[in-house]
Amino acid sequence: MPTGFSIRDHSIFCESSSIDALADNFGTPLYIYSQNAIVEAFTAWSEAFQDAEHLVCYAVKANSNIAILKLLASMGSGFDIVSGGELQRVLHAGGLAEKIVFSGVGKAASEIEQALTAGIRCFNVESTSELLLIERLADRLGKVAPISVRINPDVDAKTHPYISTGLKENKFGVNAETARELYRIAHASPCLRPVGIDCHIGSQLTDITPFIDSVKHLKDVVLELQSAGIELRHIDIGGGLGIRYSDEQIPSTGELITAVREHLDDLSLELMIEPGRSIVGNAGALITRVQVIKTGETKNFAVVDAAMNDLLRPALYSAWQDIVEVDAGKDDAALYDVVGPVCETGDFLGKDRELSIDEGDLLAILGAGAYGFAMSSNYNTRPRAAEVLIDKNEAHVIRSRERVEDLWINEVVPSHIGGPVNED
Ligand code: LLP
Repeated sequence: MPTGFSIRDHSIFCESSSIDALADNFGTPLYIYSQNAIVEAFTAWSEAFQDAEHLVCYAVKANSNIAILKLLASMGSGFDIVSGGELQRVLHAGGLAEKIVFSGVGKAASEIEQALTAGIRCFNVESTSELLLIERLADRLGKVAPISVRINPDVDAKTHPYISTGLKENKFGVNAETARELYRIAHASPCLRPVGIDCHIGSQLTDITPFIDSVKHLKDVVLELQSAGIELRHIDIGGGLGIRYSDEQIPSTGELITAVREHLDDLSLELMIEPGRSIVGNAGALITRVQVIKTGETKNFAVVDAAMNDLLRPALYSAWQDIVEVDAGKDDAALYDVVGPVCETGDFLGKDRELSIDEGDLLAILGAGAYGFAMSSNYNTRPRAAEVLIDKNEAHVIRSRERVEDLWINEVVPSHIGGPVNED
């Protein structure tokens, strides 16, 4: 069981709260998060740097619940954002603008203006057009925009192709040659200030080597810039460290940072990272109830009340996440495909899982704290699940379950289509 989860008397607990009781109290499908697991994972990152000057910028996209952002902000976390919406969330949660880095290949002018006005730490620039847009907007607002250039080091992160971002055929970052040009422009501009260099080569990395390969590329650029008289303040190696979903061997935060520091310490730059999954991933589980057990001709199906709209990773990336019985005391195991009620064959949460279950039983889908709720949708007009943060034996609702009426709140029926819509 991941940190924060345990089995007691054949039943699963999150911290000291029984999942059975949580499901009874809050209904299913339900996202639950162990507060302590998040605190421990964040602390593991800060401690990994030891005496090195550093800033951990949590990647908000992994799980953007405001309570979680506030918890991380209270521990001194910075934030990596990719939209104006995420900026507003972080500020709303009490995050400090000067600890925010803004990543993404397509920042809109309005988002850049928002970030300039807030006074963020740095824009992670991904193209020439973006740099020139930031310059124009900073000029108009009378600001100096701090910038970092995202290098695409053309390194294979050996992860799922959809979440691999550091190859030259990917849309992210720029090569070293373009980067040098961007720094030259920024250095010469009164409205831009080059402060850092960054990269992010992919997510769910299980090996240190691609991190080191990309760090070496970044270091080469830093040294070239130094000889051209451009001094940076920080180097940001992105996020991407994986978590254990099944039997992956994941390097520890300490191993990764020690290896990185061997290459970077002589530069005397502040070290930054943007971890998302490794902070919240294993702290969360999606709790779901078996609705129907269906014995097909070639397969058994456990149809549960969570679906691809609640947890998209299995359908989108064929991702494997552990699914365990909340009541672990039953026998008579059989193989099941765990599927949701959505009308698509791609709507599965796990295939060929050995489970001892009856209709009405609860299942916990582990490793669901990152890119779980954050990627959920209302497909099939399914209200999104509630989220609960567990602090020992206390359960705090940090997002209430959506109501069906909430889902059409922005929908308008033009008068030419017909009479008024029933308000009930
Ligand atoms: N920094 C940047 C610029 C990123 O694009 C990302 C993630 C991160 C940091 C955080 O990476 P992490 O530490 O979480 O690996 N939905 C996918 C993962 C997409 C990751 C996108 N970028 C999944 O469920 O596996």
